[in-house]
Amino acid sequence: MKTHLINYWSILSLALCSFTSSKPDLSFQTQKYVSQTLTYEGKTFTVRAYENIIYVANPVDTAYQKMNIYIPEEYFSGKKVNGYTAETAPIFFPNKIGGYMPAQPATLKEMPMGGMGGNRPPMNGMPPMGDRRPEAAPAMTQAKPSTVVAALAKGYVVASAGARGRTLKASNGEYTGKAPAGIVDLKAAVRYLKFNDNRMPGDANKIVSNGTSAGGAMSALVGATGNNPDYEPYLKALGAANGTDDVFAVSAYCPITNLDHADMAYEWQFNGINTYKKGWPAPAKNSDPASVLSDEQMKVSAQLKTLFPAYINSLNLKDAKGKSLTMDTDGNGSFKELVISYVIASAQKAMDTGKDMTAYSFLKIAENKVISLDFAAYLNYMERMKTPPAFDALDLSTGENMLFGSATVDKQHFTEFGQNNTKTEASSVEGKFVKMMNPMYYIGQENTTNAKHWRVRHGSKDKDTSLAISVILTTALQNKGIDANLEFPWDKPHSGDYDLDELFTWIDGLCK
Ligand code: DHB
Repeated sequence: MKTHLINYWSILSLALCSFTSSKPDLSFQTQKYVSQTLTYEGKTFTVRAYENIIYVANPVDTAYQKMNIYIPEEYFSGKKVNGYTAETAPIFFPNKIGGYMPAQPATLKEMPMGGMGGNRPPMNGMPPMGDRRPEAAPAMTQAKPSTVVAALAKGYVVASAGARGRTLKASNGEYTGKAPAGIVDLKAAVRYLKFNDNRMPGDANKIVSNGTSAGGAMSALVGATGNNPDYEPYLKALGAANGTDDVFAVSAYCPITNLDHADMAYEWQFNGINTYKKGWPAPAKNSDPASVLSDEQMKVSAQLKTLFPAYINSLNLKDAKGKSLTMDTDGNGSFKELVISYVIASAQKAMDTGKDMTAYSFLKIAENKVISLDFAAYLNYMERMKTPPAFDALDLSTGENMLFGSATVDKQHFTEFGQNNTKTEASSVEGKFVKMMNPMYYIGQENTTNAKHWRVRHGSKDKDTSLAISVILTTALQNKGIDANLEFPWDKPHSGDYDLDELFTWIDGLCK
């Protein structure tokens, strides 16, 4: 009898064992690595490469829900790099998301183009990849240092997660990467890092997210939405690891974010500029003839522009002195002055570092000081790139329309204006998904842990979204007492990772 009992018991435990081990183990496997020797700025060093780690227990698409983790070898023998130890090293968390497309994790080998290169497929109405503007052409031919390798040389642990995106389909034909899939994936990857904090070098309380464009938007979203319950059911369904999902700091280059207000912001900025260069399918050259907005598009532009002041005024933003930032019905006022002040600061910084600014006739300069900016003339130099509405297109032709599709519908509207003025039989996405893709709704909210430190950069020649978008984001954060800084690096087009020394100095300043 006794023997029988034991037998039953061992059979049961065997069964239990095989049941649990058939689920992917989310414990970090310290021994599963490949050693890689790298060279950066003349320094040769070794890292352990842990690649293609599936970071959730119930993945939907293992081609994307995987992470690459790279760790300086020194941390396995008690040594220091750049003053950091295995316990104190920040975890740099760059994503390669572009165009809200599915994204592979970053690797050591890619030729990064400011977070915009590598494996980016084309997107609707947008150029395929790379620094796509004509003024960026030299950057594409010049091998820039890999962001991952540069971060490793600084002693950071690097963890880069892939994520699902707007074009993914399952074998049954259902879409699997529509909003909020991408952000849920990144949050699940953060949970993996938190869950494994004691199993791997690097301090999971010092995760610094980084991304460019749609990836910059995702980086901001990771930082804004920490631990918010809206995402819980989706994380649970994926079998995300047990852990929190807030991060320490955010680096966001030209975040294409606040999508539900980006159309009005774009027309606030570009209304009156009635020519545009799409830059697609081939990158636009300066000599390319510009297209002209139709009468109907001009009307749409004017309508959208009038919606922006009410939005700005509803935010109750304040400047550094506590003065209200407002906008009158023409789009003028203290908010616009703040935007202009960032452009002036950027021009001043360029001049202070030796750039000849005489060609920029829209700047008034006296005694090496940029005194004022002719905003309209500056926008003429910048040029319009998108037609109105820039994001929620009335014919559903943008990547964002696709982002907001559903399991069964490829493209949808995500603004009231888009739906009310649609040219098709289109439907609209559920409002909760628009919210879950917009960091603005999570700043300073209850049950949410916002990242404490933010660095936002948007090139002064980047017309993929309005300058106002980054100003709104940064100001909203600052108004909640969060450390956030914004610059419009001079003459930079839509791109990122172009100032890694400055970025890493900022990270070191926060982490050391
Ligand atoms: C990107 C660029 C865009 O203009 C846009 O609307 C969305 C994403 C990008 O480069 O990721």
